[in-house]
Amino acid sequence: MLDGSVILKDFPLLQQTGADGRRICYLDSGATSQKPKAVIDAVTDYYEHFNANVHRGIYEISERATEATEVTRKKVRDFVHAASTSEIIFTRNATEAVNLVARTWGEANLKAGDTVILSEMEHHSNLVPWYMLAEKIGIRVEFVPVTDEFRLDLDTYRSLLKNTNAKLVSITGMSNVLGTIPPVKEMARDAHAAGALFLMDGAQSVPHMPVDVQDLDVDFAVFSAHKMLGPTGLGVLYGKKALLNAMPPFLGGGDMIGKVHLGSFTCNELPYKFEAGTPSIAEEVSFGAAVDYLNALGMENVFAEEQRLTDLAIARLSEIPGLKIFGPRDGDRGSAVSFTLDYVHPHDTADILGSRNVCVRAGHHCAMPLHERFNVPATTRASFYIYNTEEDIDRLCEALMYVYKLFG
Ligand code: ALA
Repeated sequence: MLDGSVILKDFPLLQQTGADGRRICYLDSGATSQKPKAVIDAVTDYYEHFNANVHRGIYEISERATEATEVTRKKVRDFVHAASTSEIIFTRNATEAVNLVARTWGEANLKAGDTVILSEMEHHSNLVPWYMLAEKIGIRVEFVPVTDEFRLDLDTYRSLLKNTNAKLVSITGMSNVLGTIPPVKEMARDAHAAGALFLMDGAQSVPHMPVDVQDLDVDFAVFSAHKMLGPTGLGVLYGKKALLNAMPPFLGGGDMIGKVHLGSFTCNELPYKFEAGTPSIAEEVSFGAAVDYLNALGMENVFAEEQRLTDLAIARLSEIPGLKIFGPRDGDRGSAVSFTLDYVHPHDTADILGSRNVCVRAGHHCAMPLHERFNVPATTRASFYIYNTEEDIDRLCEALMYVYKLFG
């Protein structure tokens, strides 16, 4: 069993104390995770000792920088169990990775009338790129509904696969609002049986649970380094090699080319074909340290401890008068716990919690259609990670009882 009170000692920011002398209670890892010292040190080490551009220099520090970024690529390949480093594309973030698929695979393979199936619980980053494609080339977008129990309606999913010209299903691996974990493997199998590809938005799942892209048999997966102890400015697109090879390039520029002549160019091989321009070198280097950190804990253990904390948080939050949780109470769910208090606006709740050094997010969490589905303008969200403890849940509930006394 993991012990958050030991783990948090590795995170410099979490040592900070507020005016009341108590340490910061960080419950917003769904937005971004904190960074362990090993990751911060890796950034500094790069800038102090081998800051140079990659794939260009033939001097020692440049070769070292190139090697360090490729070491991270191998670690990421193994972390999600991809077959090859050719299948691991570094992007700016998960959002850019979805856009890459929409703009390259989508524009090359979809035509007016083809359907992309999404769900009502998608993040805007897995909605808007497809809406843009709908505007541009006339594809149709359909949505798997979310049930009153906060699960995907799989019967409707199957009928959408059967009754539309579905070419792609693009679904989150874990809702950033509800915490719901859909049955990705089963949904991907159904998509394939209907002749559609499957993209998993792993921004919330890859940081929190073991993910094996080959076992899930997803065609594409996207995720972000900063939500899994790594730096901002770096995302990952996993894609099956044959698909990536057949796709046109995304951005044009240095590094993604084989040859450039006056008036023509050829593409580089994978994965560089999709990595135009100087990459986020310090970020790629330090992301390797984040993956090492998670591997040392073991992703099975990360998931188990988060489940324990989430179950406890849900039980404790349920005791707060007027609090309604938006998400499954148990079963397949992750550690994002969103709620409303029926006597105060979610932003006021988050504001008061913030004044007590309890950091939560309030708003639509980049999932406006989901909030419309449940007829609420906003929710407050607590999201847990490896450095959270039972004491953090006490702090959250204590602060919410204070809100209740003020407004309830
Ligand atoms: N997608 C991030 C969140 O859910 C930013 O907070």
